Amino acid sequence: MPIVIQKYKHPYSFDDIFISFHGIFYDYSSKLIKKIKEYYPEHNVYLTNKGRESLNLILKNLNLNEGDEVAIPCNVCEVVVETILHNRLKPLIIDITNNLTLDPKDLMKKKTDKTRAVIVVHQFGNVADLDEIKKSKLITIEDCAQTINAKYKDKLVGNYSDYAFNSLDITKPISAISGSILISKKPIHYNLKKNVGLNNLVELILFMVLNNKLIYNLITKKFITNLKQKQTLKFKIKNKAMSKISIALAYSQYKKYEKKEDYSSKLLNSIRGLMVYSENNNHKKPSYTFIPVKLNGSKLSGKIDLPQPSCPLIYIEKYKNYISPCPNTENLYKELTLIPTHTNISNIKWEKYII
Ligand SMILES: Cc1ncc(COP(=O)(O)O)c(C=O)c1O
Repeated sequence: MPIVIQKYKHPYSFDDIFISFHGIFYDYSSKLIKKIKEYYPEHNVYLTNKGRESLNLILKNLNLNEGDEVAIPCNVCEVVVETILHNRLKPLIIDITNNLTLDPKDLMKKKTDKTRAVIVVHQFGNVADLDEIKKSKLITIEDCAQTINAKYKDKLVGNYSDYAFNSLDITKPISAISGSILISKKPIHYNLKKNVGLNNLVELILFMVLNNKLIYNLITKKFITNLKQKQTLKFKIKNKAMSKISIALAYSQYKKYEKKEDYSSKLLNSIRGLMVYSENNNHKKPSYTFIPVKLNGSKLSGKIDLPQPSCPLIYIEKYKNYISPCPNTENLYKELTLIPTHTNISNIKWEKYII
């Protein structure tokens, strides 16, 4: 029997269905904004429907000229590239460090007089070297979709830049089914469509039922992965605010996240012997959604099914006009495996599954 590990899991329970339903009638936005302000006291906070909507708002507010460049790490999610292209801007693809985040040296090498902004992705809990990146003097946007509770120096990621955003879809550390928090030093002018989001309530209930461990392996595994892939690739900007239901759910999930047990240190002990991609830099304090590991020339047997990292941009045909050499990304992604930390899987005897 293969070992079952749900790819995505969240501390949803019946009180979340209740609060989401209550959100139809009661506006939780000021409660949620107050909670987020505890982490970002000096910033303006906005609630949008998705990470791409937040990034779109940021790019619109920058008033860049058509063809201006926005630097991104080579291992960023396609949605980020599509949002840049949607704004008639050009992605400038930068190699990554062994920390799996944007390489400041490659940024300095590839930056041109058309490069205006850089999107820094804190990948799998690894924090990018913001001080070095800021030496580029570009407008900095922190993408905290994969990493929300790691600190840079003594503050949470997102606090050090002009703009930051996260994503609250089901694959992220905190999920409100759909949604994104946008953080900005300066006020942003926006006009987003308000909505109740009944579909989010239906999706929450479906997710809770289908993600149950008993039926996950039988019917859900393929279904959830395919659904997520379709949603990522079906790129649309709808200029929508976070739905009333997702706002209520996000508020409840943020409160639960603060109390959630962190399994990552136990997990790190249990996989000792595999190489962990978590190279130290002076400012890093990892928080894990997945622990990225390299299997030192071996493979995982088919008896264990783990999430695959998304494909680096250098291998995606439609971006071939923007590709420049990213040798470190090529090397690192050859043997990269992700181990989810949402659940206590530290008792697994990993040696049994490595061939
Ligand atoms: C690093 C990163 N940035 C941005 C996004 C986009 O978020 P959303 O799907 O909410 O638009 C994702 C989503 O997969 C992501 O992984």
